[in-house]
Amino acid sequence: MLYRNIAKPVFFKLDPEKAHHLVIGGMAKATKVPGALAMMRGMYGVKADPALTTSLFGLTFHSPIGLAAGLDKNAEAVRGFSSIGFGFMEVGTVTPKGQPGNEKPRMFRLPPDEALINRMGFNNEGTEAMRERLAAIKDRPIPVWVNIGKNKATPNDKAHEDYLKCIQTMYNVADLFVVNISSPNTPDLRNLQHGDELKALLSLVVDEMNRQNAAHGQNKSILVKIAPDVSDSELESMTETIVQSGVSGIIATNTTLSRMGATHVHRLENGGLSGKPLTERSTEVVSQIYRMTKGTIPIVGSGGVFTAEDAYRKIRAGASLVEIYTGLIYKGPGINRELASGLKRLMKQDGFKHISEAIGADHR
Ligand SMILES: Cc1cc2nc3c(=O)[nH]c(=O)nc-3n(C[C@H](O)[C@H](O)[C@H](O)COP(=O)(O)O)c2cc1C
Repeated sequence: MLYRNIAKPVFFKLDPEKAHHLVIGGMAKATKVPGALAMMRGMYGVKADPALTTSLFGLTFHSPIGLAAGLDKNAEAVRGFSSIGFGFMEVGTVTPKGQPGNEKPRMFRLPPDEALINRMGFNNEGTEAMRERLAAIKDRPIPVWVNIGKNKATPNDKAHEDYLKCIQTMYNVADLFVVNISSPNTPDLRNLQHGDELKALLSLVVDEMNRQNAAHGQNKSILVKIAPDVSDSELESMTETIVQSGVSGIIATNTTLSRMGATHVHRLENGGLSGKPLTERSTEVVSQIYRMTKGTIPIVGSGGVFTAEDAYRKIRAGASLVEIYTGLIYKGPGINRELASGLKRLMKQDGFKHISEAIGADHR
């Protein structure tokens, strides 16, 4: 209510990137104001419920709903986002060196379509700044996943060096890593999703994770995030390579280059489209991967989740966890309570006692 009636009308009058910085700045400041985090938990927190609590990747998730990458690119507001009902969050995409990203404007709203288009281009302060921030958070309330990428100036044949540097610098402060090879806004990045380039990259990052895990006596996981703009046969060969690589899971999907379902004039802007027009396609990709792998590799669903029904469809299609970004911008932090209570209602309707029973239910 507070968000929809007061904050959103103000934010939506501002340039989208300015509104974004206000939110991140506000969430970061809340950490320093006594009582603010408790107030946020009181207003938006989601009570841990055994029916929605899962263990995966060696981590515990009190809710299957997480914050997708790209909102807290520099891990500035981890405590704030941890207080509004998420079960986990991604920070990043972070690259070894800080970089400014593309020229502004680079983020656009499509209000009638409940969508966004962005061509941010991995603007971020780099791994060192993120490492320091994460190291300073001692009592981490939810798992924090670090989404890693390559610098724009790094050519694709050296991309692996950037991913390895990110893992080496951030290993101690990440609960899990996500290899982002699916952003449409770094030239040629998506080529890393295919054929021998994918095979070689994943083999090197998995080797590095194994080395780090052995050196630290831990067993942290690494996932790959893929694009929705692939043919069925491309998806099939990508999935096969990903499964064979030993990576622990797949995030499906990143934003789309398609403009299907977008009507607002901003559809003509270059960049990745997120939100409602992506809902169905990303769920379809989740479903295809689940079918191809017979549910053997965990899938995290991302793309156009606005309602509990959207999240539940992704879970029934095969997602073990679900992420949101654009839905949070359009509906505000109350969305997490709505999703948690809605998921319980939908599970009950289907006779499921625990959320894990719903994962992949469409395929049985
Ligand atoms: C402004 C913006 C920036 C994003 N930045 C990143 C990023 O840095 N890394 C990444 O993996 N995904 C990024 N994404 C993609 C989201 O994490 C998410 O996968 C996608 O938006 C689909 O989910 P949604 O429809 O709930 O937004 C970004 C999305 C938006 C809207």
